[in-house]
Amino acid sequence: DRLEIIKSTKRKAKPDAGNLVFGKQFSDHMLMMDYLEGEGWINPRIVPYEPISLDPAAMVFHYGQSVFEGLKAYRTEDERILLFRPEKNLQRLNRSSDRLSIPAIDEEKVLGYLKEFLKLEKDWIPTAEGTSLYIRPFIFATEPNLSVAPSKAYTFMVILSPVGSYYAEGIHPVGIYVENSYTRAVRGGTGTAKTAGNYSAAYKAQERATEMGQSQVLWLDGVEKKYIEEVGSMNVFFKINGEVVTPALNGSILEGITRMSILELLKSWGMNVSERRISMEEIYQAYEAGQLEEAFGTGTAAVISPVGELNWDGRKMVINDRQTGPLSKKLYDTLTGIQTGRLDDPFNWTTEI
Ligand code: COI
Repeated sequence: DRLEIIKSTKRKAKPDAGNLVFGKQFSDHMLMMDYLEGEGWINPRIVPYEPISLDPAAMVFHYGQSVFEGLKAYRTEDERILLFRPEKNLQRLNRSSDRLSIPAIDEEKVLGYLKEFLKLEKDWIPTAEGTSLYIRPFIFATEPNLSVAPSKAYTFMVILSPVGSYYAEGIHPVGIYVENSYTRAVRGGTGTAKTAGNYSAAYKAQERATEMGQSQVLWLDGVEKKYIEEVGSMNVFFKINGEVVTPALNGSILEGITRMSILELLKSWGMNVSERRISMEEIYQAYEAGQLEEAFGTGTAAVISPVGELNWDGRKMVINDRQTGPLSKKLYDTLTGIQTGRLDDPFNWTTEI
């Protein structure tokens, strides 16, 4: 179980903090671990970042048995390294794995390895406003075998990418296209798991959103195409006539850790919050009545992304004049303040390394 560390002899140039793009640059090392039937998870190691070699019959290529996570590390003004609720990501990774019949990792040990990894790569954590080090853990099936059955071998990896905002809009509100025919997930499917196929299955709808001049897709329930689910890269919230609402976890929505944190924050502020079923019709009615005050998405990559426009079946709703609303702004400032150590952490969300 001892973590082996093989340091790279080369050091890559760090990207310019002013123009970080999401997920295109990676640090000098990667964390890996293998799973073999009968042996469990073995050989945890940190090695130089480099391409990996896999058998062409590796099961991940054929039947998509893979899961991933996303979390962030921040460097505080006094040079401490903070992680935001990392135990929640590792728990969710194991829930996703369970759904895809992948063996569980030991969350505590992996968190320990991750901390060692981040200590080694701490210079890769950018400090400029709105930046962080995005941590991407993932697991994939490696057994060379074309049978349709769970693999007997897996690789777990973590790679690190210094990032700024996920959306090209930066902190400006995004436009959203409501998808009426394609389906992201249904109850009983894999929608609550962070598995690769959920994301690639969304590309066709994303193409349509782009054609419509919108940047993201809002998914509706797969059965009636009436109720709001999520955006795919984020969960969604609406402020309607003073009440903050978000779709209830229904077995097909991803259980966002930012979503959970925002609900806790809003409740601690004494706001009127509810998790419930929300139809597109309700949103449209609220819009028509002048009661749709704000809309925003939440996610690790997206942080808090205000929604400036919704395009549903030819009906266009412009929200808060396409400006970031006061609640979105306050949530963004509070959340990132806690994450970066600029504000107190009354909920004990951060873990110092
Ligand atoms: C994240 O927010 O970390 C995600 O995994 C979303 C991803 C589609 C970028």
